[in-house]
Amino acid sequence: MPNSLVLGIESSCDETSAAIVQDGYRVLANEVASQVLAHAPYGGVVPEVASRRHLESIPILTREVLRQAQVHWDDLNGIAVTAAPGLIGALLVGLSAAKGIAFRLGIPFVAVHHIEAHLYAARLDDDPVAFPAIGLVVSGGHTELYHIEDWGTYRLLSSTRDDAAGEAFDKVAKLMGLEYPGGPLVEKLAAQAPEVRMTFPVTRMKDKSLDFSFSGLKTAVGLEIKHHPLQDERGKVLLAARFQNTVLGEILYRVRAFMDEFHPKSLVVGGGVACNNALRTALKTEMDSRGVILRVPPPKYCSDNAAMIAGLGAFQLSKGIRAEFSASATASPLSHQPFLLE
Ligand code: KG4
Ligand code: ZN
Repeated sequence: MPNSLVLGIESSCDETSAAIVQDGYRVLANEVASQVLAHAPYGGVVPEVASRRHLESIPILTREVLRQAQVHWDDLNGIAVTAAPGLIGALLVGLSAAKGIAFRLGIPFVAVHHIEAHLYAARLDDDPVAFPAIGLVVSGGHTELYHIEDWGTYRLLSSTRDDAAGEAFDKVAKLMGLEYPGGPLVEKLAAQAPEVRMTFPVTRMKDKSLDFSFSGLKTAVGLEIKHHPLQDERGKVLLAARFQNTVLGEILYRVRAFMDEFHPKSLVVGGGVACNNALRTALKTEMDSRGVILRVPPPKYCSDNAAMIAGLGAFQLSKGIRAEFSASATASPLSHQPFLLE
């Protein structure tokens, strides 16, 4: 890995991103083109629109990050691209671009997993992560906890049985009449509340599993709004705070349980919901009280970005991992299984 320069490409959903990462952790450039405005008129991400936007943005962003990093095409040692999970058309656009560049330059490429990259984002820092660690991914599509022995060695401990944490934020925001993506808007409202201790009822599994479930919470918020329509800003602020408290409580409950069971050295956190300041503060307080190192990246590397893809790709390339030109993308959430060891 020393002196390696890897170009990362991310196009799994509605953000296009390209990045140049040196030695697997030094981000020389990272650019993200959001498609939020392109999808806004439709009230959700339109796959075909996303694919077309990625097609337009990838050439522009790759040239831009090379320029910013003052790196020439010929200086690159490898390419890393997200190949799963995500919108299949969107993934195929990024994968095809990576294959084309790798073929033209005669350098290797790796097809990386988006969720693994969200965990690896914590490594985009001068300090290596102390293992073993517990990994928490909280994004628009995933809410998962892993036991991590080292990069590349993961065991799934808990996942969501229905909605992901970010999805719950987005759906509740919609119920409250807020725009997509709702997470940052709900956080902004909740931050204006006086200290709110109230929560909504939560779902716990009968089989004592520590899996998450957020769909009942969304229903509870919907019923609350139906019975007590939101009349003013204060009502919105209190509802947002109560909802956010509940989500944070559910995350902390499971994090604490796995801390007690595994006594890890670090907690690694990634995914768009990890931008949430209330969550960051709550995790910091909890980890400080336990003497556990909290590794949560700055917000720009929590939400979708190509720096995490390039970083993980550099690590994989250093281990001799290479993708074949026949490699394909996988949309299915089950496609996260290949990167798990158990
Ligand atoms: O990781 P990400 O950028 O994309 C996926 O891989 O899904 O996560 C996007 C999700 C959205 O659901 C968004 O509402 C949520 O992250 N999010 C937040 C915050 N910022 C983004 N949720 C809560 N609080 C935030 N500040
Ligand atoms: Zn993501």
